[in-house]
Amino acid sequence: MNIAVITGASSGLGKEFAGFVDVSCAWIDEIWLIARREERLNEIASGLEKKTKVLAMDLTKAASIDELKNTLNENRSHVSLYIGAAGYGKIGDSATVSDDDTAGMIDLNCKAAVLCTSAVIPHMHAGDRIIEICSTAAFQPLQYLNVYAASKAFIYNYTRALRNELLPKGIAVTAVCPYWIKDTEFIEIAQNAGENGRAAGVRSFPFSIKAEKVVKRAMWASKTGFAVCTPDIVSFFHRIFAKLLPRTVMLYIWEALRRL
Ligand SMILES: NC(=O)c1ccc[n+]([C@@H]2O[C@H](COP(=O)([O-])OP(=O)(O)OC[C@H]3O[C@@H](n4cnc5c(N)ncnc54)[C@H](OP(=O)(O)O)[C@@H]3O)[C@@H](O)[C@H]2O)c1
Repeated sequence: MNIAVITGASSGLGKEFAGFVDVSCAWIDEIWLIARREERLNEIASGLEKKTKVLAMDLTKAASIDELKNTLNENRSHVSLYIGAAGYGKIGDSATVSDDDTAGMIDLNCKAAVLCTSAVIPHMHAGDRIIEICSTAAFQPLQYLNVYAASKAFIYNYTRALRNELLPKGIAVTAVCPYWIKDTEFIEIAQNAGENGRAAGVRSFPFSIKAEKVVKRAMWASKTGFAVCTPDIVSFFHRIFAKLLPRTVMLYIWEALRRL
């Protein structure tokens, strides 16, 4: 039984990946959908052709990681494809972003992402694939997306090194680094500054693309064996310029972009 495990499957990229795997990945027998909102997951599962398992859990809780490990062991599962798409960001400075969200971003985007990946690796073998959703924010520090960008730099670096650790086992690992995506819940959540209203640190989201394109390009990059997927024009050039230009210059370019 070949399983695809998808975190963040209740909306946005995770949901889109589930649909893609359902239709386009003939070798996958069962799709495991992970996120907190159970109703949403059940609704998505009912629209899929393949067998599904819904694991409604908050991945920032240690008990959830234990439950995931136990479920994998009980089912003697073979995870053929793992997609880590659970994540969130908050726009604003330290006065705007609450301590809960600051810790929450680190807990979900870094700690939970690594622990979920570690949970599935023992159930994978040669030919299997890991896709870790990072962000173009991984390529440089970003004021007013500070903790989010730092968390994505963490998971990006983790993913790059993991790829080399798993090369001898024949497991492919790809870091996917999109720029803004317009049709997920991410931007709405990032702008919501709770009692402080709407976060103003980033004014607009130009050149944003659709989740469907990100997913198609990510799946292609993973199949082809790419270490990094920059699925849109902005992230493609961002990765190059962030290597060529000094950090200070990149920070000023971002300063201009975020005021657009
Ligand atoms: N959208 C963009 O502009 C953009 C750009 C670059 C990178 N990304 C990255 O892409 C990934 C997917 O984001 P998206 O755009 O698809 O946003 P999204 O629609 O908000 O999806 C985020 C997913 O994460 C899940 N999630 C949030 N907190 C969780 C928790 N504590 N435990 C388990 N699941 C949790 C959410 O489900 P529940 O609320 O049901 O738990 C949801 O399914 C994220 O890692 C994000 O950083 C997004």
